[in-house]
Amino acid sequence: MEERITNVALNSEECNSEYTLRPQSINEFCGQTTAKDNLSVYIKAAKQRNESLDHVLFYGPPGLGKTTLAGIIANELGVEIKITSGPAIERAGDLAAILTNLNDNDVLFIDEIHRLNRAVEEVLYSAMEDYALDIIIGKGPSARSLRIDIARFTLIGATTRAGSLSAPLRDRFGIISKFELYDKYELAEILERSAKVLNLNPDIDSIKELAIRSRGTPRIANRLLKRVRDFSEVKSDGRLDIEITGQTLNALEVDELGLERLDREILSTIINGFNGGPVGIETIASAIGEERVTLEDVNEPYLIQAGLLYRTQKGRMASRKAYIHLGLEALFKEEE
Ligand SMILES: Nc1ncnc2c1ncn2[C@@H]1O[C@H](COP(=O)(O)OP(=O)(O)OP(=O)(O)O)[C@@H](O)[C@H]1O
Ligand SMILES: [Mg+2]
Repeated sequence: MEERITNVALNSEECNSEYTLRPQSINEFCGQTTAKDNLSVYIKAAKQRNESLDHVLFYGPPGLGKTTLAGIIANELGVEIKITSGPAIERAGDLAAILTNLNDNDVLFIDEIHRLNRAVEEVLYSAMEDYALDIIIGKGPSARSLRIDIARFTLIGATTRAGSLSAPLRDRFGIISKFELYDKYELAEILERSAKVLNLNPDIDSIKELAIRSRGTPRIANRLLKRVRDFSEVKSDGRLDIEITGQTLNALEVDELGLERLDREILSTIINGFNGGPVGIETIASAIGEERVTLEDVNEPYLIQAGLLYRTQKGRMASRKAYIHLGLEALFKEEE
């Protein structure tokens, strides 16, 4: 498979270094100021009352720190966190087993919560609302329902698509936080921190350049930093300066706006294949041979934020900036 800097899955190297690169306390967590500040208040209040924190839903594009912040919440609350994901919980019994093993105030983190199946989701309703499980014992006419109490836990759900969550599930979250793409100053701060953790000493120009080219995403910023380290160690003298940074970004085909090949392909498809749009996302996906969800979750948020793409009722359109960026300005037609 083609190596993509936007790849959602963690590579094996990241599985090892994720832990060290992840901030552990709320003060180390840069950006997402509104979400963070509000959460600090709720955490403090819950602790003062010695109650569990209300259920929290995080949504937003991949790699923005949802899992990280869930871990921080548990740390700040001083409780255990149990981590699982929507697709991993196959049967209602699996969820019941997890829930009955929690202690009061513990955090249960469910990643990709929009991918829970129906039966499991229904168990979650009463667990979230009443801290109870309704279990059916026996079959046919003799079947009885038994209610068992569980610990007063906090559910933290994370999803890239809040729209795919069923209304009853969404309504059971008391705190809903949207994660925004980071600006270049926040990314620079994150890069500085990661460099320190990894024992690297990049110059300020490299940090600035990486911050601009990380498409608003800390995970990508960290990835790029590690690739620059590789290039510097192998092709240069180990110093992290703007020259080796530029060389690395070129080798990865990450352009001045942080776009990758697939991003440019999306834009050029809209421009060359569909006259700049509007064109439906499904059509773009099949023209490129990519999954629609990848385009929607991974590529689109940044293309929109960068002002290269916009959404209309009839479909996606490339902006003038996109034409200019691809050197196709001559093709641009002002809308009548
Ligand atoms: N605010 C932040 N400050 C510092 N580092 C961060 C921040 N947010 C994310 N990171 C870094 O980015 C990486 C990715 O974050 P995380 O895994 O929490 O993202 P996510 O939103 O859960 O992504 P996904 O939707 O793919 O699960 C982490 O390893 C962490 O080091
Ligand atoms: Mg995550």
